[in-house]
Amino acid sequence: MIVYVGFILLMLTGLILLGLVGIKIWIEVTKKMCSCKVNLEGKIVVITGGNTGIGFETAKILAKRGATVVIASRNDAKSKAAAEKITEVTGNPNIFYKHLDLGRLASVKKFAEDFDKSFDRLDVLINNAGFTEAEQRHSEDGIENVMQVNHVAHIYLTNLLMPKIVASKPSRIIIVTSMAHATHKFQRDDLLLGKRRLNFWTRYANSKLCNLLSAKAMAKRLPEGVTVNSLHPGMGKSDIFAKIPDCPKKILYFIMDRICKTVVECAQTSVHLACAPSLASVSGLYFDDCEVTTPHHTVTDELAEQVWTDTLSLIEDRTKRFEKIGTE
Ligand SMILES: NC(=O)c1ccc[n+]([C@@H]2O[C@H](COP(=O)([O-])OP(=O)(O)OC[C@H]3O[C@@H](n4cnc5c(N)ncnc54)[C@H](OP(=O)(O)O)[C@@H]3O)[C@@H](O)[C@H]2O)c1
Repeated sequence: MIVYVGFILLMLTGLILLGLVGIKIWIEVTKKMCSCKVNLEGKIVVITGGNTGIGFETAKILAKRGATVVIASRNDAKSKAAAEKITEVTGNPNIFYKHLDLGRLASVKKFAEDFDKSFDRLDVLINNAGFTEAEQRHSEDGIENVMQVNHVAHIYLTNLLMPKIVASKPSRIIIVTSMAHATHKFQRDDLLLGKRRLNFWTRYANSKLCNLLSAKAMAKRLPEGVTVNSLHPGMGKSDIFAKIPDCPKKILYFIMDRICKTVVECAQTSVHLACAPSLASVSGLYFDDCEVTTPHHTVTDELAEQVWTDTLSLIEDRTKRFEKIGTE
């Protein structure tokens, strides 16, 4: 019996290792670096969560190309250090940071007002910040916290910045989602509020589904000259799973250590969407490895419209106390 169980375990371990090697080979063969050499001097880029991980590397590459970069994140000390590091490495002095806590819609409003006063244009908005956490909780706005940070607050932010984005045409909006969207457990009546108990992964996947759907719905509403696209950056070892339970964290980081792309490689599709001339009028699509790809089959126009409408109603309801939003 013991020999039999040992044999099964050995076979399973072998299969897992073989699977990991296969995925690693596939990642190495398919990964792509952005090849366009566009200079971004005079362009202003806002990147949420630009103080670390994929966002930081994206900010650094865009800074190297001459863009003025505004890091929008909630940890001011980390953002200041990131901005200084980017200036040191790239020689670009035009790297700024502004406080933005996506977990609080009031903070989003404050950031947008502050940005509006400080900068006269916005050429590229990169909605990059994202996370998940072990504990299921609600924000002060009464929205499931992961869904609020990853999706709802980003839509609110985009809508608040829209007048500046439109006035700066040609301009681009980039939404960082994940292939994890394919593992969502969608339920329209509870997608945004999170009354059902869901694990950290499903809450993350649902929010990433909403990222993709909102890019699709937003594309239909933008004027000519303004585009929006979403992307999967690839799996890269970052702080993305810092707040999940210990056991899955160890397993995920074990896998990530062996098969992941670097965060610089993960930044490539965001950079490509921000500056490739061939994408000047491409909108509403989903990218991976700098190429258009097909999302999960549940990503339909109909679902995109539903989630868009639900998100706007929720934002309107939760921000009544400090404003009346104007979209559509
Ligand atoms: N890494 C991957 O394998 C992977 C795969 C697919 C998709 N993605 C997506 O890629 C994007 C970047 O992730 P990453 O891997 O670079 O993760 P990361 O290193 O953890 O960076 C996430 C960023 O989001 C910021 N953030 C989190 N909560 C925030 C809040 N309430 N308000 C403002 N900023 C907040 C973080 O700021 P703090 O420093 O203050 O926490 C950090 O700057 C995410 O949208 C993620 O879903 C990542």
